[in-house]
Amino acid sequence: MAENERSGLDYAPGRNGASPTPIKDEAPTQTTAPPLPQPGGARYAQIVGWGYHVPSKVITNHDLEQIVDTSDEWIRTRTGIEERRVAADPNETTASLAAAAARKALDVADVHPSKVDLIICSTSSPEYIFPATASVVQDAIGAVNAGAFDLSAACSGFVYGLAMARGHILAGDAEYVLVIGAETLSRIVDWTDRNTCVLFGDGAGAVLVAASDVPGGIMATELGSDGSGADMLIVPAGGSAHPASLETVSNGSHFIKMEGKAVFRFAVRVMAEATTKALSRAGLTTDDVDLVIPHQANLRIVQNSVLRQLKIPEDRVFVNLQRYGNTSTASIPIALCEAIEAKKVKPGDNLVFVGFGGGLTWAACAVKWGVPTAAPEVGWWRSTRRQAGYQAAAARSMWRRAVRWMYDVWPADPEEAAAEDNETPKPEPTKQVSGSRNN
Ligand code: UT7
Repeated sequence: MAENERSGLDYAPGRNGASPTPIKDEAPTQTTAPPLPQPGGARYAQIVGWGYHVPSKVITNHDLEQIVDTSDEWIRTRTGIEERRVAADPNETTASLAAAAARKALDVADVHPSKVDLIICSTSSPEYIFPATASVVQDAIGAVNAGAFDLSAACSGFVYGLAMARGHILAGDAEYVLVIGAETLSRIVDWTDRNTCVLFGDGAGAVLVAASDVPGGIMATELGSDGSGADMLIVPAGGSAHPASLETVSNGSHFIKMEGKAVFRFAVRVMAEATTKALSRAGLTTDDVDLVIPHQANLRIVQNSVLRQLKIPEDRVFVNLQRYGNTSTASIPIALCEAIEAKKVKPGDNLVFVGFGGGLTWAACAVKWGVPTAAPEVGWWRSTRRQAGYQAAAARSMWRRAVRWMYDVWPADPEEAAAEDNETPKPEPTKQVSGSRNN
């Protein structure tokens, strides 16, 4: 590590915005976000909080054998997947999974939701066409000062979101940005199509990206797209090209369609290229990489790209697709959280996140990890206060809805009502056409 660089371990946990307090030889027990940078000082975009949430319902390959003409053996050998999580409860939606993951990320960073400036929710299975799932999450977690938008870049979306977060932070437009990858793909998968239904799963992962004066963080990104392959991985209907109709519903064009082989070839090519480009922008080579967290689509894609082409050894590549299947944009943040749990990430490590997906799109980023990853010790008082905060957010949301409802039904101020009456043009009486047959 260069002399002028400091790792997250150099800072004692402190209130955000307070001056950094150097500590010696003692790892902090709480993964508190480092202090925000001083105005005019160097800015970096550090990941300071992380969390994931998956539905409890597990569907194994053997379960799928009962639904479509497939076998555990085929799925394991062709993909590496053994089981996946599915949002079986109708109350589990993309937004509810995303909000649960976001709360965990804020808890790890010990940052209050009101401090979040921006929420970016990457998803291909949004709550609605609009409003954005990010806005639903913003309301659910009580991020009252945050802007919110959804990002559509399919499985590459989480890394696109990190690039956006980095840009906002380095430009000085935001101090805290929540980046979420969340999917309920089980709701848009055709459960009679064995080409796709064995692959996908549901879940959400989130990170809190903060402005920091600790060098490193999200150092470089590489984003790409080739729209000529748009129809290779697509949900054809439900958008403006083919709005929902009896025909689109009956022919199943609201479900995911995929040319698996073509997507496979594309993925193997772009994963290695994108990784190399992001690393070289960060001034690094594959030898400097401590851990690659690839999009968890297919073990063979990871083996043919990251392992064989880039010659990165297996112990420096994190894979958890056996247990979750392909959760699209949620796969990298979920894997990041599990890599942290497995103690595979420590301050000063160089990480690479790399993904590919519908669009076609691809994305990679190089991250120098900057904060401790020890499990936070949260006292009962702090934990109670957090829970109370989330309940207050729910109450605030209900109150706002109630106030809007009252404005709709309450009798308006008589003077305003009279003014409105005068402004409202009176409907013309229907003219009788003389000589019509009815006369
Ligand atoms: O996030 C991005 C999302 N997409 C992807 O990452 C997908 C990338 N592509 C893939 O991962 C692979 O192409 C698949 C896993 C989708 C398919 O693997 P493959 O080795 O390319 O198989 P294939 O499509 O060439 O099919 C081989 C055989 C076919 O039978 P025939 O024609 O050889 O008799 C398929 O009909 O396997 C058959 N097959 C299945 N058999 C049992 C296809 N799906 C299944 C299945 N169970 N679920």
